[in-house]
Amino acid sequence: MYHTSLEKIDKILIKSGNIDLLMKNRIIKYGADLLRKGEVVAFPTETVYGLGADATREGAVEKIFVAKGRPQDNPLIVHIGSFEQLSGLIDGKLPTYVEKLLKRYWPGPLTIVTKKSKTLPMMTTAGLDTVAIRMPDHPVARALILASNLPIAAPSANLSGSPSPTRADHVYADLNKKIPLIIDGGPTKIGLESTVVDVRDDKPVILRPGGLSREEISSFLGFEVQLAENIKKPLSPGIKYRHYSPETPLTLIKNINDKLLNQLIEDYKGKRLAFVLTSESIDRISNKSGIEIIEIGSRFNPELIANRLFALLRKLDKKDFDQIFIEAIPEKGIGEAVMNRIYKAVRKNVLELN
Ligand code: TXA
Ligand code: MG
Repeated sequence: MYHTSLEKIDKILIKSGNIDLLMKNRIIKYGADLLRKGEVVAFPTETVYGLGADATREGAVEKIFVAKGRPQDNPLIVHIGSFEQLSGLIDGKLPTYVEKLLKRYWPGPLTIVTKKSKTLPMMTTAGLDTVAIRMPDHPVARALILASNLPIAAPSANLSGSPSPTRADHVYADLNKKIPLIIDGGPTKIGLESTVVDVRDDKPVILRPGGLSREEISSFLGFEVQLAENIKKPLSPGIKYRHYSPETPLTLIKNINDKLLNQLIEDYKGKRLAFVLTSESIDRISNKSGIEIIEIGSRFNPELIANRLFALLRKLDKKDFDQIFIEAIPEKGIGEAVMNRIYKAVRKNVLELN
């Protein structure tokens, strides 16, 4: 058992983006020391908070799995702070299109899966001969990684089966007493995890949609990049695990319309209901007692919805609703990743009216 320190980094220092200065910060130095000693540290990235440890040290990586209660056959993403750290982790040279992608989108919410070098222990990659690597675009994450001078293995810093944390207090709620340090860098910018792309072939395949949209990658590369699930490619090992789904029953509403909503309100009379609706739909329901309406943002601003989703699901699950309904948004841009997470959270509870 640990005493967990929750340490906040000065907002103005983060905003300055000055990595050199951040590397001299007391909290970052303490975090880097812990990492070098084989300990785990939770830190902010631009996507979600990560729980990091020395990726080259089996005993350190094992602590991540223990703290999260994560199945050991689910591999971790290795985070780097500079391009120089890349070559030591991979086997051979990357194809030209991948180099172009990295130049354009790193640091950022893009994770590549490629052949691994021998420096990484089995536990980091869960015995696979591939490794997932990303360079996060958050000054605190980069300063911490560079100060530790190590590649840092880091899954999202939640308990296995909880939503990924987008704020330090989410990490605290899940991992208090399980880790020595949480570095608070404020709420994360994107709010959804990175896009995981298998780049072993001459055409990339998206294993997990995320913060960098498929649309954006496709337009940059000049051809339509596919999701693995649509072309029957083997999926990411993480896909088979139980993903976050709230305790309170959660149902997705596709093709929302007034008739359906009125019917639902009628059917669930006397129950405590929450409706998570887009700005375009909130006026469809009038305020009634026993019904809470939460506006999640405009369906034309999926970035904002991505940013709010996990925190909202955490919050709603803590209140005692009998049933939560959530409206579908268009699967365009980052909306594709938003809907991917919502589908996991609702499991099979989908209402569709034609
Ligand atoms: O934005 C993110 O990606 C966050 C922050 C902390 O960087 N990290 C994150 O890690 O979401 P995690 O462990 O929650 O998700 C990693 C995903 C899993 O679905 C895992 O199966 C997949 O990446 N993955 C890791 N290594 C892989 C590999 N060698 N081959 C295929 N998939 C891999
Ligand atoms: Mg995760």
